[in-house]
Amino acid sequence: MTVQEQGPLTTEAGAPVADNQNSETAGPAGPVLLQSQHLLEKLAHFNRERIPERVVHARGAGAYGTFTLTRDVSQWTRAAFLSEVGKQTETFLRFSTVAGNLGSADTVRDPRGFALKFYTEEGNYDLVGNNTPVFFIKDALKFPDFIHTQKRDPYTGSQEADNVWDFWGLSPESTHQVTWLFGDRGIPATLRHMNGYGSHTYQWNNEAGEVFWVKYHFKTDQGIRNLTQAEANRIAGEDPDYHQRDLRTAIERGEFPSWTVQVQVMPAADAAAYRFNPFDLTKVWPHADYPPVEIGRLELNRNPENVFAEVEQSVFSPAHFVPGIGPSPDRMLQGRLFAYGDAHRYRVGVNADHLPVNRPHATQARTHARDGHLYDGRHKGERNYEPNSFGGPEQTGRPLWEPVGVSGATSYGAAPVHAEDDDFGQAGALYRLMSQDEQARLVENLAGFIAKVSRDDIAARAVDNFRRADEDFGKRLEVAVQALRG
Ligand code: HEM
Repeated sequence: MTVQEQGPLTTEAGAPVADNQNSETAGPAGPVLLQSQHLLEKLAHFNRERIPERVVHARGAGAYGTFTLTRDVSQWTRAAFLSEVGKQTETFLRFSTVAGNLGSADTVRDPRGFALKFYTEEGNYDLVGNNTPVFFIKDALKFPDFIHTQKRDPYTGSQEADNVWDFWGLSPESTHQVTWLFGDRGIPATLRHMNGYGSHTYQWNNEAGEVFWVKYHFKTDQGIRNLTQAEANRIAGEDPDYHQRDLRTAIERGEFPSWTVQVQVMPAADAAAYRFNPFDLTKVWPHADYPPVEIGRLELNRNPENVFAEVEQSVFSPAHFVPGIGPSPDRMLQGRLFAYGDAHRYRVGVNADHLPVNRPHATQARTHARDGHLYDGRHKGERNYEPNSFGGPEQTGRPLWEPVGVSGATSYGAAPVHAEDDDFGQAGALYRLMSQDEQARLVENLAGFIAKVSRDDIAARAVDNFRRADEDFGKRLEVAVQALRG
């Protein structure tokens, strides 16, 4: 029996409500009384039903699941949940689009968020990735500017092609990700038919203190399926909730989507001489260099019961690590280590990590942090400081991750450039990897959007980046854009 079935309707303080149809009035034809507490309470609570939507990735859907380890990886990490073949860990995964607001359509051309929480016995480990292995920029300092160009223009109130292409044209490091986004995978058919990636490089360290750099890949077991631009446009009009409905109903039918989990592992000693800067988020590590190794299987098998409580109020932070896993010096990741916790405190509140979806499920949080909005008193009368002489949680003395060597003076310089680092090489390689048909769709998708800009110089600069990736790519795009702009 649910709470709602156990007795009469009540006020929020639990007193029985006599009339839920009529407010209390001064005589049958008179005005409503201020003492009509039930009315006041209903209206006031209703006014506060929304919390701020996420500043990015506002639109999303989530589900619980299970991660099963299929390979012993203790040679690379001492993380307990990665310690024993067959071990299972509860997870929660939230998918999202990036730019649209909470009520926007699912089938837009946009990266998809792939935010995964592992409820491990050593605390929650959050891997907050996308369905793309790379990203548009490589320094967190540029993130607010980038996102401003993706979201609504301050004057028109709409997304503007001018802003998007002006920024991408002036940020040549985005060429790889933009080529990816306007290719076939830019609009997945469903959330079940796409891959997920950790995208950044992360640190793994083993019991002996040896360091490895890793990249995570989640390969869909359903197979990759995408929508064409025309199909996506039609569905966006007919059923804006298409992706979230598909995920929920598949799980309701018992068709549990799953992903094969792989990692690329680089011994720490390789990093300095690797042909690409391994901490540059605009680059992949070609599989020939570091072949993906299968380590597990992720299955989604349970829908949330309440979307607001469990999806809207869910929080994921790239700073949520567990022993054996840590950050890399990737400049984007470093910025993200701050941004998410800060967003959670603003959006959900200082006790966001106490909510059922966010708190550890396989262990307990034992901190001396206390109080704040909506604190539930969980620590009762326990002492709230450390060190103390009354028992209570103490530090372990062992950091989650191993130290990383640094050198040189503080500066604002660009990140180290490795032998084959440039802004265009991997974008060109991706273009040449596509079939003739996909190349044609890529050019058409890009041209359709670039052609909307109001200034020729912005269009020309945008096209030029693709030419520098691949001469043929640039030529075809130039012709297509000119044909549309006349
Ligand atoms: C420095 C660059 C970045 C900054 C400052 C940043 C910041 C943010 C912020 C503030 C949120 C909203 C969090 C919330 O309200 O709960 C968010 C959400 C998200 N971001 Fe980023 N982001 C960055 C780059 C990235 C990258 C590179 C990825 C993927 C590889 C990514 C994936 C996500 C995902 C998946 C979400 C949604 C999480 C959820 O489902 O709750 N972000 N980001």
